[in-house]
Amino acid sequence: MRHPILLALGLLCALGIGVVHADDVDQATHEHAVHVAVGTCGTCHGPTGVSQQPKYPLLAGQNANYVAAQLKAFRNQTRGDADAIGYMWGMSATLEDGTIDALAQYYAAQKAGRGRAGETALVAKGRQIYEKGVESVGVPACAACHGPDAHGMGDFPRLAGQHAQYVMKQLASFQNNMRNVAVMHGVAQGLKVEEMRAVAAYLEAQE
Ligand code: HEC
Ligand code: HEC
Repeated sequence: MRHPILLALGLLCALGIGVVHADDVDQATHEHAVHVAVGTCGTCHGPTGVSQQPKYPLLAGQNANYVAAQLKAFRNQTRGDADAIGYMWGMSATLEDGTIDALAQYYAAQKAGRGRAGETALVAKGRQIYEKGVESVGVPACAACHGPDAHGMGDFPRLAGQHAQYVMKQLASFQNNMRNVAVMHGVAQGLKVEEMRAVAAYLEAQE
């Protein structure tokens, strides 16, 4: 710590400013988040975010920024639809920002669940929509934002392996604006129910 720059860094660390990235999580907050994730959230989402029931979304391997944004949207009561309101508004109501960041990092670091193979023809149709969109009605390729392998890109969520039932329901909620997000409303608007079913089956089959 003789070097002046190291000394300055040491001082900044001691004061807890500057050097620590906003999203960095201290050990106590991390431990608290693991406790919450396993003990509370795990009842529905599974201890590592690999939920067994299709109503509860997989969180393992999900993009951290996306998870944090969703938890804040539930807490602010801006992400609607009956299940969001019934399950997640209450669950997120008392979560502090630090816990949210730590939960998001916890799930992002977990190994994603395995995909589940679907009906071949349906999956093939879904792949077509995922990679090319539906040009005649202006549905863009999902891959453009969610990534070629559906692992997510930037702040766009991972979709690979997600429960088809959950994906279907989200697409319907984007379409009718119960989950009010302009980008996905625009995307989902032109999708027919059987196209949603196909793309959801394709996504569930991915890893
Ligand atoms: C009683 C069951 C239950 C518990 C407990 C629960 N959740 Fe959820 N969670 C749900 C359901 C149902 C949804 C899907 C809501 C919807 O369909 O919009 C959800 C959605 C989510 C989402 C959105 C995922 C996505 O892909 O957009 C996140 C993030 C989440 N929960 C995190 C948590 C965290 C963190 C906890 C613990 C503090 C928790 N949940 C506890 C049932 C639960
Ligand atoms: C222009 C970029 C863009 C395109 C193209 C796009 N999406 Fe999205 N998608 C998003 C964004 C942004 C979100 C996150 C919305 C939010 O913040 O709640 C999202 C969220 C989703 C979700 C919710 C994920 C979850 O865990 O709850 C699903 C499902 C989804 N998209 C499916 C699709 C499908 C299927 C297609 C192609 C038909 C598609 N998306 C095309 C940007 C896009």
